[in-house]
Amino acid sequence: MPVAPKEMSRKPFLRALAGEAVETPPFWLMRQAGRYLPEYRAVRASTKGFLDLCFNSELAAEVTLQPIRRYRMDAAILFSDILVVPYGLGQEVAFKEGEGPVLSPIRSVAELGAYEPNRLLERVGAVFGTVARVKRDLPSEVALIGFAGAPWTVATYMVEGGSSRDFAKTRKWAFEDPDGFGLLIDRLVDATILYLKEQVKAGAEALQLFDSWAGVLPEEAFRRCVIQPTRKIVEALREVYPDLPIIGFPRGAGLMYETYFRETGVSAVGLDQTVPLGFAKEKLQPIGPVQGNLEPLLLRLGGDRMDRAIDDILENLAGAPFIFNLGHGVMLETPPDHVARLTERLRAWKS
Ligand code: CP3
Repeated sequence: MPVAPKEMSRKPFLRALAGEAVETPPFWLMRQAGRYLPEYRAVRASTKGFLDLCFNSELAAEVTLQPIRRYRMDAAILFSDILVVPYGLGQEVAFKEGEGPVLSPIRSVAELGAYEPNRLLERVGAVFGTVARVKRDLPSEVALIGFAGAPWTVATYMVEGGSSRDFAKTRKWAFEDPDGFGLLIDRLVDATILYLKEQVKAGAEALQLFDSWAGVLPEEAFRRCVIQPTRKIVEALREVYPDLPIIGFPRGAGLMYETYFRETGVSAVGLDQTVPLGFAKEKLQPIGPVQGNLEPLLLRLGGDRMDRAIDDILENLAGAPFIFNLGHGVMLETPPDHVARLTERLRAWKS
């Protein structure tokens, strides 16, 4: 019997990240585990708070696997949250029902002194237990993605004390006192490196850095708060894991997407839904694999409009290294049937 070439035996998601144009592009969805799934809501109802779910390895592994069982995505993403890092550093973090995250805000360099980076791994240790469990139970062709928030995005939650419309306090600090704010970013760079190395040790095969609020900064601050910290994280991880695939998701980066891709050294970029497909094809795919970027609202609406948008993305991007995803997370109101319809359409595609 002929021996299958190495490429044939690897998981499609990892082949695409390694630079292969896979005939039927691999896919996964940001927030593929979550409240749009009844089986998630059932598990969630059995835990006290959202963080209790994140720190229960058995249940977090279960909800990580739920969308894989239903839809067989090409990758599972660790079930956790980007705010477990501030929690692990010693900041108060709570998720209030219907309100989102609430943190005891940090507004000055002096307050950084209270953080305990040396206790981070112990405080969030359950997350690595989740990774190991998922890795053990995952179907062999499905890859496991670990993740963290990128320093800028995590800093916005730490400084604002939760979600925000305009990030006024964080931007003010970043502009008025770049050195002081830089110390917070540096702390987060170090914490993120530690945290992600541990996820890889536990079995994560690729990583994604979520920079959900990258799009609000002018060029100088974008370089300082988004590109440089991301590059430091990528370099530190590559020192230990030279071939580790890392996806950067600088949501809203617009015209800075190309600079971000070139200068951070990430293996692939995640595109939000505002990135034009022609720009992605001509300017970004020559640099490396891209991932994205269906408008999440079209998945929620379903039907022909969704089908046409899916085909448009595939026609433009599937001829080169590409991973199908949404431009942002699955919306809460999304009917699970629409995800099934999307899955069938993607599986039937051949470039
Ligand atoms: O993608 C996945 O399936 C993995 C799990 C995951 C969650 N959050 C679960 C979650 C991931 C990768 C995240 C990342 C995350 N968390 C981001 C970056 C991506 C993005 O959405 O921009 C951000 C900004 C957060 C912070 C966060 N977590 C907020 C603002 C909220 C409240 C808003 C909301 O949707 O409820 C959360 C809570 C959260 N994180 C939930 C889930 C499933 C809902 C909480 C619940 O089930 O009670």
